[in-house]
Amino acid sequence: MTFISHSQTRPVVVPLFSLRNVDTWNETRATLTKTILAAIFIFAMVLSYPRNSTASQPHVNRKYTSEQPVSKKPLTCPELPANDRWAIARHDGQTNFLFPLDTPITPTMLPPISRTNLIHVYPAALPVVLHSAEQQDGRSRPQYEFHKSSDPAGTGKFFLGREIAQYMSYHGAPWLVRPEREMEEQPDVMLDSLNIQPGQTIADIGAGVGYFSLRLADRVGSKGQVLAVDIQRRMLALLKTNMRKARVKNIRPILGSVKNPRLPTGKVDLVLMVDVYHEFTFPIEMILAIRQSLKPDGRIVFVEYRSEDPAVPIKRLHKMSEQQVRIEGNALGLKWQETIHYLPWQHVVIFH
Ligand SMILES: C[S@@+](CC[C@H](N)C(=O)[O-])C[C@H]1O[C@@H](n2cnc3c(N)ncnc32)[C@H](O)[C@@H]1O
Repeated sequence: MTFISHSQTRPVVVPLFSLRNVDTWNETRATLTKTILAAIFIFAMVLSYPRNSTASQPHVNRKYTSEQPVSKKPLTCPELPANDRWAIARHDGQTNFLFPLDTPITPTMLPPISRTNLIHVYPAALPVVLHSAEQQDGRSRPQYEFHKSSDPAGTGKFFLGREIAQYMSYHGAPWLVRPEREMEEQPDVMLDSLNIQPGQTIADIGAGVGYFSLRLADRVGSKGQVLAVDIQRRMLALLKTNMRKARVKNIRPILGSVKNPRLPTGKVDLVLMVDVYHEFTFPIEMILAIRQSLKPDGRIVFVEYRSEDPAVPIKRLHKMSEQQVRIEGNALGLKWQETIHYLPWQHVVIFH
């Protein structure tokens, strides 16, 4: 063992064992020796332990022979599903170890421990495993970005290329019940398309003053329930007034946080988000929490003003394209089911 001394003008290689004169060195060397012996012992135990054949492991393909060298680049293999991307960890003319790049690699996917595998395959597999982990990381955890905003309605916070809008204050509550809204948004036509059944539990996220919660309460009936979530106490106060006026009992107002709608786990049939998703300050955290609240066959519905249509008279950051909704939904682990296009100003993008 050597180290390079920088105290000289020219680097001088000094034997590390000359540090014997340092008091602690003997102790350090003894500990080091014990550790190495223990490692050799464990290594020997592992090698002597009998392992199963690799034939039962789906990720080890013995038949496939390729002239491709050890590589971390994706390769195509006629015997494997066309949509999967695989990487070869070793090729010795007879045996290839193929690792899927699009799913996280777990220890069980590695070839069994043997002398040959430890010496040849594991070191060759390491770059492949790291590459796969990087890909997984990049895909499964989308990030927020922060840039200077050029839009007065913007927050300077971006998610997958879209600037998040400032959320609408309770001062704007009268706009939510403007008489022309019926004509512009056709709320009952929209709800008809969602096939809501009596007895269901529906979450209305960003419920505002209850424009949709009240309609939903009527549709789910006395055996069903509407969970009306908003982050503004003043909005919920207006919602409660509207509930009293309409004598509605099956709406539960919930004060959510910007990261958590505080819904019960696994209880919700349908989550409705009308004109709100684009103003979530933390869309990642919100959608992950919303997913937890859904029943196994539950659905999440995004209703957004169409940014594809310049004739829709809504501020730029308060509109979203269908493509952007689908990109974000997909990145957050949702599966697109259907998009309804026939409303005058909005599209309804349904995921499950
Ligand atoms: C434009 S209003 C729409 C209200 C209602 N959906 C409607 O269509 O009448 C948006 C509402 O979403 C609420 N909001 C914004 N971010 C929220 C979040 N992370 N969780 C719950 N509500 C949120 C705002 O407080 C506001 O009341």
